[in-house]
Amino acid sequence: MIRFALIFALAALPVFSAAAPKTSADAKVTFNEHIAPIVFNNCASCHRPGQAGPFSLLSYGDVSKRAQLIRAVTRSRYMPPWHAAPNYGSFADERRLTDEEIELIGKWVEGGMPQGDAAKLPAPPDLPQGWQFGEPDLIVEMEQPYRVPADGSDIYRNFVAAIGTKEEKWVRAIEFRPGARSVMHHSLFKADTSGKARKIDARDEEPGYSGMDAGIRGLVNLGGWAVGGNTRVFPQESPKRLPPNADFIFQSHFHPSGKVETEVSAVGVYFTDKPATRTSIGFQIPPLYGRGADIDIPPGESSFTIRERFTLPAAIELYTVTPHAHYIGKSFKGWAVLPDGEEVPLIHVPDWDFAWQDSYIYAEPLRLPAGTTMHAEIVYDNSAENPHNPHNPPKRVTWGLSSVEEMGSLIFNGLAVREEDTQAIRAEYRKLQRRHVAQAAEQAKKRRRTVRRSGTSGGE
Ligand code: HEC
Repeated sequence: MIRFALIFALAALPVFSAAAPKTSADAKVTFNEHIAPIVFNNCASCHRPGQAGPFSLLSYGDVSKRAQLIRAVTRSRYMPPWHAAPNYGSFADERRLTDEEIELIGKWVEGGMPQGDAAKLPAPPDLPQGWQFGEPDLIVEMEQPYRVPADGSDIYRNFVAAIGTKEEKWVRAIEFRPGARSVMHHSLFKADTSGKARKIDARDEEPGYSGMDAGIRGLVNLGGWAVGGNTRVFPQESPKRLPPNADFIFQSHFHPSGKVETEVSAVGVYFTDKPATRTSIGFQIPPLYGRGADIDIPPGESSFTIRERFTLPAAIELYTVTPHAHYIGKSFKGWAVLPDGEEVPLIHVPDWDFAWQDSYIYAEPLRLPAGTTMHAEIVYDNSAENPHNPHNPPKRVTWGLSSVEEMGSLIFNGLAVREEDTQAIRAEYRKLQRRHVAQAAEQAKKRRRTVRRSGTSGGE
């Protein structure tokens, strides 16, 4: 799917190399002076041994060997991967080349890829080996490897692992390391103090068990990871509480890749001595990953749109926004309308790519006053022209957990500006959730009726 998209991007690019005039200015662009700093700063974090990139980009040889492809993927902005539109919300660690940098790469390739003066080569990037966030205070690893078959449908499975901490701890960050990157779609982290998860796991020989929370109450939510994701850092004043004597649960979603893979996930956990002084608030627009948003997309429809809004009863500071949809998601837009009518951009992902489920961290916590209405608009493209469409020819697609069904929401995390307003914001959000639970039931009923009438099996 991804390759397919890239071929499109390549096909759209004119080929200059032979015809481009070699002016003296072009000839001056060298690897050592101009290209190495760009690649070291923007590519090497992933393109080096042990990281997500499929090859290293650390030397003249690495880069010149793939120069044409690198020129194409930087020009199309396929690389570095970053899907939020510029100048619409300001985010930490934006992965984006400037127009000048892209032009320099082009000129260097057209100029015959000179290596240049060795004295100008910057020192190799000083990037952490192993854990990106430094040596963790605690490493929790799946107790048994899990074999992901070559094909078949998506797998949702829970794996229990001992944590071993005997006192209450406060978690400031969690870093996830998948064992088999090609099949790991996402993993949610929970802690279980009831011992039930371990009992359910022991019912059969196979590692783990299926079913979301398997009816276990009181699981502690510790965040999660999805493809393209970074270390999950919690706001300083709001670390996550890890209760004593708990088991860790990896709630993982695999998408078979065509090849048998063996998964052993691990997390690195980083503690802080300072307990939380503020309570984090997580909410989605629309709630429930869009279960009540009437996602029922006819085959061929190229801009099916869902919309929802949420009005804040009290001031909030937003820390992160995470757009979530599956393959035929096309774009996301989030914005806020302040009580005085001013519009504040929250996020715009004009060209959604399922493979990159980034959490976007606001460069500065984004403060929205009481009475602000937050809006979300999510568009889906279920046409045959969408190269990401898993169905060929396109089929009716409805809401569902599998990645060939759809979901959609903007997931926000924040803190009430005044801690005592936390409950008011949560209560207002619960109202929105309840409305969507009721809508979801209505919509499911309606869908069953239309399926019966048309005599089709619907959108599996
Ligand atoms: C956040 C991690 C990350 C960063 C940063 C990154 N890449 Fe990649 N790159 C990947 C991954 C993962 C793949 C393989 C999957 C894919 O093609 O999307 C990839 C694939 C590629 C490919 C192969 C495309 C193909 O289909 O064969 C090229 C070329 C490439 N990257 C160049 C770059 C360059 C040049 C930069 C910096 C300007 C860069 N990448 C920055 C993660 C990254």
